[in-house]
Amino acid sequence: MAIIAPSILSADFSNLSQQIRLTEIGGAGWIHCDVMDGHFVPNITIGPIIVEAARKCTKLPIDVHLMIENPDKYLEAFANAGANYISVHVEEVVHLNRTVNYIKELGCKAGVVVNPATPINSIMDIAEYIDLLLIMTVNPGFGGQKFISNSIRRIEEAVSLRNKHHSKFLIEIDGGVNKETIVNAKKAGVDVFVAGSAIFDADNITAATTELKNLIK
Ligand code: DX5
Ligand code: ZN
Repeated sequence: MAIIAPSILSADFSNLSQQIRLTEIGGAGWIHCDVMDGHFVPNITIGPIIVEAARKCTKLPIDVHLMIENPDKYLEAFANAGANYISVHVEEVVHLNRTVNYIKELGCKAGVVVNPATPINSIMDIAEYIDLLLIMTVNPGFGGQKFISNSIRRIEEAVSLRNKHHSKFLIEIDGGVNKETIVNAKKAGVDVFVAGSAIFDADNITAATTELKNLIK
């Protein structure tokens, strides 16, 4: 599996539909929506209405990354807005098994997210129930940050944990993904690559998407 998931966090929101379209032409496989509430992370971004807008612009799977406090309260709203994947931070959810089940009852694929200093084996006992593990390769909150160097080891740990537990979850990374970092991440075993600034800050969004896609073929 080798999917480029452009993060609309870095998109020009005055032209969201066209920006998403340009990534689709370039070979994007998913659309990543970074939801932030200014509490779990020091930034405020988007909510269900923007996921709904993105849903109207694309047929691609919409991958919602909830960087919010008490995500249980909003799962239904994001599912109704058209999310295909909903990922919650393990640092934020007390009853993670119940939350993962609820995401699936809502008809979405369930993802869990680990921050850069959260041990990979913290997801050991939820591994067989999830569809997606999102490994943060920057500290969440902002686009355009530097890829944290121990992420490659953490990706390899996630691959061995998946094998050990006979799980099927996809491994996604988010943060600092660009043409310099994506090849080693692919080699380490990543399936889905979130990229925001590497795509939307480029002069040619379509070409930037294609360039990343070609590096993980
Ligand atoms: C951090 C965000 C960013 C974004 C990608 O909370 O989740 O990682 O998706 O940003 P870039 O690709 O610009 O690092
Ligand atoms: Zn994200």
